[in-house]
Amino acid sequence: MPRARLRLGLIGCGNFGKHLGRYLLEVADIGALCDPQPTGMEDTARHLGLEVPRFTDYRDMVGQANLDAVVITAANFVHAEITIAAAQAGLHVFCEKAMARTVPECWQMVRACRRHGVKLMIGHKRRLRPPWARMLELTDDSCLGPVLAVTVCEYCDNRPYEFFDTWWARPELGGGFFHMHGVHVIDWFRALCGDARRVIALHGPQHDVRYRFRDIIHANIVFASGALAAINGGLSFPIHKFRQSQGPWAECRHGGFKMVPHLDHIDLYWQRLDDAEPRHERFDDLGFDAAYRHEVGDFVAWVQDDRPPCLTWVEGLRCVELMEAAHRSAEAGGAAVELPLYPDLED
Ligand SMILES: NC(=O)c1ccc[n+]([C@@H]2O[C@H](COP(=O)([O-])OP(=O)(O)OC[C@H]3O[C@@H](n4cnc5c(N)ncnc54)[C@H](O)[C@@H]3O)[C@@H](O)[C@H]2O)c1
Repeated sequence: MPRARLRLGLIGCGNFGKHLGRYLLEVADIGALCDPQPTGMEDTARHLGLEVPRFTDYRDMVGQANLDAVVITAANFVHAEITIAAAQAGLHVFCEKAMARTVPECWQMVRACRRHGVKLMIGHKRRLRPPWARMLELTDDSCLGPVLAVTVCEYCDNRPYEFFDTWWARPELGGGFFHMHGVHVIDWFRALCGDARRVIALHGPQHDVRYRFRDIIHANIVFASGALAAINGGLSFPIHKFRQSQGPWAECRHGGFKMVPHLDHIDLYWQRLDDAEPRHERFDDLGFDAAYRHEVGDFVAWVQDDRPPCLTWVEGLRCVELMEAAHRSAEAGGAAVELPLYPDLED
């Protein structure tokens, strides 16, 4: 007899909810939608071809909709409260990045899920996109070897997103600069270099006053391995679109690599110190489909079969920790911030 498909509640029907919903439906059923804005639910239901109950309050949904799990694609400022309510109702949780605004919120989510014996995964898809996973693979000691230093310049033109009047641009709701632009790269840094020990960051002058946080920031991260990572962010650089803006350059023990992202393809160059020329790999598939399928497929298999997943809450919490540390360092004029950021909250 075929096994029943997992029944998910999709919470947050804005831009991203309906996008992720398409991948969710490949591996599970969506049994209910939730968003305080009925129009968002209407759009999402139409886009996904769903006729399911709709809730404007997640507390009603988790109690009434007969679900196995929730998928949270709501704004960052409600990730923690929704996760806690879902856990209390005995539902597993897949929550989009950024896990939450702050590390204490992340720990509240972790503790609630532990207490109620439910699983918690955070959707950090960048490390799963094949071109980005390929760079991780190149750092095997038999090829380029471990990373010693990596830099990402993510200056881009963020104006087309029109985030100015939304929660994204307000740090008390979104979390800050890196929660909006940087979260993907910072998680990938962790996939590349492991756990971090120290963060030092500086703000530049304010460029666009419509952002309620400082909109130029440069951050350096020191990893336990000794590797150094730099991420330099600006939001009003007209030459690069978001998708063109985040190509890493890395110096590795036996060589190096450089990614050049374009709008419709990605070029990757890499060379060992003993090679005469760089090698070139071109990716015409940017790898979004593969990454979304990987993460949601793993979530379903984790819940149904207890199969170890590619991501858990650990990636989410450690990423928020690095972002919060960078914002804190920059606000303190570049003071070094040591990790863990909240030693008293650690297990
Ligand atoms: N993995 C990725 O590549 C990726 C891409 C984009 C967005 N995201 C994440 O998805 C989330 C949503 O982003 P978005 O671009 O869709 O933002 P959005 O502003 O378009 O949508 C957010 C939605 O959350 C809803 N919401 C607010 N409070 C709620 C509550 N109490 N209960 C239920 N819904 C509530 C809003 O009404 C809105 O419809 C964010 O956490 C973002 O970081 C991830």
